[in-house]
Amino acid sequence: MHDRKLMRHSQVHILFVEDDEDDYLIVKDLLSDIEDTTFQIDWVSEYDEAKQRIHPHRYDIFLFDYRLGRHTGLDLVRYVRTIKSSSPCILLTGQDDRHVDIMAGETGAVDYLLKSELTASGLERSIRYALERRNAEIEREILTEQLLETSRQLGMAEVAVNVLHNVGNVLNSMNVSATQLVKFLHESHTDDIGKIAKMVQAHHDDLAEFLTQDSQGKHIFPYLAKFGEHLATQHQAMFEEIQALTKNLDHVKHIIRAQQANTTSINHSEPVVVSELMEQALSINLSPLSQHHVKIVRNYADTPLIISDKHQILQILVNLIRNATHAMIENPGDSHCLSLTIDQSPEDHRIQLSVHDTGVGINPEHLTRIFSQGFTTKPEGHGWGLHSSALAAKSLQGTLHAFSDGKGQGARVTLDLPFIPVEVHAS
Ligand SMILES: Nc1ncnc2c1ncn2[C@@H]1O[C@H](COP(=O)(O)OP(=O)(O)OP(=O)(O)O)[C@@H](O)[C@H]1O
Ligand SMILES: [Mg+2]
Repeated sequence: MHDRKLMRHSQVHILFVEDDEDDYLIVKDLLSDIEDTTFQIDWVSEYDEAKQRIHPHRYDIFLFDYRLGRHTGLDLVRYVRTIKSSSPCILLTGQDDRHVDIMAGETGAVDYLLKSELTASGLERSIRYALERRNAEIEREILTEQLLETSRQLGMAEVAVNVLHNVGNVLNSMNVSATQLVKFLHESHTDDIGKIAKMVQAHHDDLAEFLTQDSQGKHIFPYLAKFGEHLATQHQAMFEEIQALTKNLDHVKHIIRAQQANTTSINHSEPVVVSELMEQALSINLSPLSQHHVKIVRNYADTPLIISDKHQILQILVNLIRNATHAMIENPGDSHCLSLTIDQSPEDHRIQLSVHDTGVGINPEHLTRIFSQGFTTKPEGHGWGLHSSALAAKSLQGTLHAFSDGKGQGARVTLDLPFIPVEVHAS
């Protein structure tokens, strides 16, 4: 591909295959009359030798006589096409033959010229047009390649933005969990056990009296009882935090893996408890919600266990709750409420997941634009969340709709999904 070059027309290298030397001399003479362009002509009279000289990049143009002994110039045109040369072929003939003319065009010759009518200007025009056409083709190929490369790079950038955006949404919550775990560990006072053990050892001989009479010793049993309770509660909290961390880590792994395999459009279906996904999405956004004392209301209908792509749904819900949280933080007032609703229409196997907030609301003229890539009204926003969510919804054969009565009126975004119920068999 790199040896394709756009030719300057001031110098043209021609392979002329012609078995009649007189005709060669006539054409050579005509070409020498043409101003502004120098023609370097390699003349070959034999078909076989011609085949050996034809090379994809050596000549700018091929001039073939139609009659070449047992062969014809059309055979050479075909040969030029088989070696994938982009250099144009012009056929010369002694006799006007409409059938050959048509065949020449079909085989790929760009022109068919009658020797008896040849003039310098006619030949020059034919060669010039052929070369212009070839240059235009090469330019188009180069542009197509550049376009492909640009779209490949844009595609890569899109993948990077998607990973960064969706992983970023979860990372903050993972960071909160990690900080919480460190705090628990700091507060666990496990060194107290060592201190108590030392005291007990020091009073090895009068242990009963120490534990019942001593001003320090008599606090040991009540302290240990409280400490045990505290440890149990703390362990439970740590366990839950680690569970959340593991689930979120799994989600992050999935986001990255899906992008690596470029399989955003392929669904990894598995049994899904939708309410658990809503809860996970909520917990990922919980920190700013509780910081701003947002009340949370759940309206979960009894939903069946469904088969769907858990991570795609989670990704969408995380974005919706995150947007709702931002909208409420931006809206002055301290009695905000986030309503999470799960509804189902069992008759047509569809499920609706809605996130309703009391935030800044959406301008009516923005309602149709918020799903476009790059549309944002936030100083720090990228306009990626709803766009990628709409794509994910589409890949699940679902839809995403936004509703708002306008500025200051809050917003509701609903994910509507078809689902396959899991057949529960009585054992
Ligand atoms: N619940 C909502 N309330 C009000 N406006 C919203 C709500 N959800 C989305 N929007 C509007 O839609 C726009 C696009 O949302 P989207 O999630 O795509 O991008 P973003 O939140 O601005 O940035 P990011 O790329 O970080 O998600 C937002 O900037 C906001 O104007
Ligand atoms: Mg967003």
